[in-house]
Amino acid sequence: MPTIVFASSKGGAGKTTAAIVLASELSQHNTTITLIDADPNQHSAKWAQKDGCPTNIKLIEKSTEETIIEDIDTAQEKTAFVLVDLEGTASMAVASAISRADLVITLCQGSQDDADEAAKTIKLVNRQAKVLNRAIPYAVLMTRTNPAITPRTLKHIMNEFHAAGVEIFKTSLIDREAFRAIRSFGGTIHDLDPAQVSGVEKAVSNAHALAVEVIEKIKSLKKERELNHG
Ligand SMILES: Nc1ncnc2c1ncn2[C@@H]1O[C@H](COP(=O)(O)OP(=O)(O)OP(=O)(O)O)[C@@H](O)[C@H]1O
Ligand SMILES: [Mg+2]
Repeated sequence: MPTIVFASSKGGAGKTTAAIVLASELSQHNTTITLIDADPNQHSAKWAQKDGCPTNIKLIEKSTEETIIEDIDTAQEKTAFVLVDLEGTASMAVASAISRADLVITLCQGSQDDADEAAKTIKLVNRQAKVLNRAIPYAVLMTRTNPAITPRTLKHIMNEFHAAGVEIFKTSLIDREAFRAIRSFGGTIHDLDPAQVSGVEKAVSNAHALAVEVIEKIKSLKKERELNHG
């Protein structure tokens, strides 16, 4: 516990990168994490199998629609955090993972297509919440943002989410070479050589800010649940 599910019906939205970055950052804080890869393409499994993956990140690879519920339940018993990386479609495995989530993070880059797909994912989360008769918290993580400017399209998309009452993480994941580099070289952004990869320090502080915000969100959701259950 808790289970954080990265979902977006759009391929390439940034799920795997966000899952890996959050897992890496949590791993720096003396905790245990299971990373479940339920995408047939196994992108996060490939990263976790490279040299340098922190030993407190346990990988469950090749999770499928038949195994995902059991994989999540087992992982919840064994590690402090469970992160689930999913494929970029709305499949049975995606719906199942969402049904077990304490928090769904849906990814959105600054295009209208991304925003529309994030809205579709939110609809799926709300449908699963109805089926289960429980709240399934979710928030949008804006990703591949530009640290220098917020383009008008991105501002418009964020305003639309706010108007619809959709929560957006204050931290966005900035487009950084360091986040791409760990996918190629393995390990965490903390292991990257700043002489070889640009912006490592900034990527580290970005990842840290995201982890802090996610943990705060999880804590406040837990408090809310406790208050609701007296
Ligand atoms: N914050 C970022 N900075 C730099 N590159 C990024 C960032 N986020 C994603 N990317 C790049 O964008 C591409 C797609 O990202 P990613 O693989 O994380 O998306 P995905 O949602 O997991 O895709 P899929 O649906 O295919 O699994 C990758 O090449 C990745 O390196
Ligand atoms: Mg992926």
